[in-house]
Amino acid sequence: MKILALETSCDDTSVSIVDEGTIVLSSVVSSQADLHSIYGGVVPEIAARAHIQNIIPALDRAFTESALTMAEIDCLAVTKGPGLIGSLIVGVNTARVLASLNKKRLIALHHTEGHIYANWLGKSSKTAPAFPLVCLTVSGGHSSLIYMKKHLCYEVIGETHDDSAGEAYDKVAKMLGLGYPGGPAISVQAQKGNDQAYSFPRIDLTKKPSRNSDGFMEKSLPSLDFSFSGLKTAVLRDVRKLEEKNQLNPGAICDLAASFQTCANEILVRNTIRAAKRYKVKTVLLSGGVAANKDLRQRLSSALEQIENIKFYYPEYQYCTDNAAMIGAAAYQHRLLNDFTEPKDLTPDSGLKLISAS
Ligand code: KG4
Ligand code: ZN
Repeated sequence: MKILALETSCDDTSVSIVDEGTIVLSSVVSSQADLHSIYGGVVPEIAARAHIQNIIPALDRAFTESALTMAEIDCLAVTKGPGLIGSLIVGVNTARVLASLNKKRLIALHHTEGHIYANWLGKSSKTAPAFPLVCLTVSGGHSSLIYMKKHLCYEVIGETHDDSAGEAYDKVAKMLGLGYPGGPAISVQAQKGNDQAYSFPRIDLTKKPSRNSDGFMEKSLPSLDFSFSGLKTAVLRDVRKLEEKNQLNPGAICDLAASFQTCANEILVRNTIRAAKRYKVKTVLLSGGVAANKDLRQRLSSALEQIENIKFYYPEYQYCTDNAAMIGAAAYQHRLLNDFTEPKDLTPDSGLKLISAS
């Protein structure tokens, strides 16, 4: 069952054809990083215009790479939200028109579903992640822990109260003059630095014990939520001090990058381990752009080795950051439920909430 998937929620124009939710027949990602890097972040207006230019060539390439025709496509899938509205409009409208003209059914998805299901790409029914599971989704827009007891059934058990992990990586990279996107740049500099050189706060949002309605003190469980703004401010404070002394040199930048990366990743690992133990899961998944971070993969992997009978999955590098193959993988599960959307009724939703399929 071949699905043609489109993803344009932020600054990557991506089209992919995925068979049976796992086999990638073509994956085209037209990056706009060069256009936005001079501004130090994504400029929504520029992103929308670039999607308009890139979407048709990306579609052409996806068909050429797979040597398929539209007649061989079972249905279409597209990211409905969340994301930048101007960017989403391009993907959603392209998918609506293609579906209507070619009389294909259409599946609309939440972007995070795609990140989660990137972990099914390349897997067989024997090697696919087993339920129940918890997924740490860490990207530019999200930092969440999602519990799933079965396919398409999502319970958000941990969220960020301020910045996402990817945002923290990007903002710290900007402070250090490392450019955009910041995550990969931080990880490169961090390899050359000392991660103990600076001490940053491992902020834990664990609530204080409170009284319940019967007046008894309730033992509060350690929180699964995240907060990265304090960490970001702590880095900024040290950057300013070094600037004042004219000591923000390449060595100090590497040490700051390493100390920040270790701190951010330790926070992510701490909460994921808490969630895995509390929900007694069989599997832990890592997903989203920050899942491309090697240090995070290694830390989470070694922490999970200490817990019996938990399998750990993370996507291949090219399926961590935004791509349409992951949308095709998630769409396959909706397709099995015949969960389609009428093309004429589909509108993008920049603030779309993640809800379970009924
Ligand atoms: O999933 P994604 O491509 O877009 C969103 O859905 O937001 O994630 C982009 C985020 C950016 O913040 C980028 O800096 C971060 O993922 N990222 C990384 C790495 N590669 C990308 N963060 C840390 N280490 C990396 N190697
Ligand atoms: Zn994403």
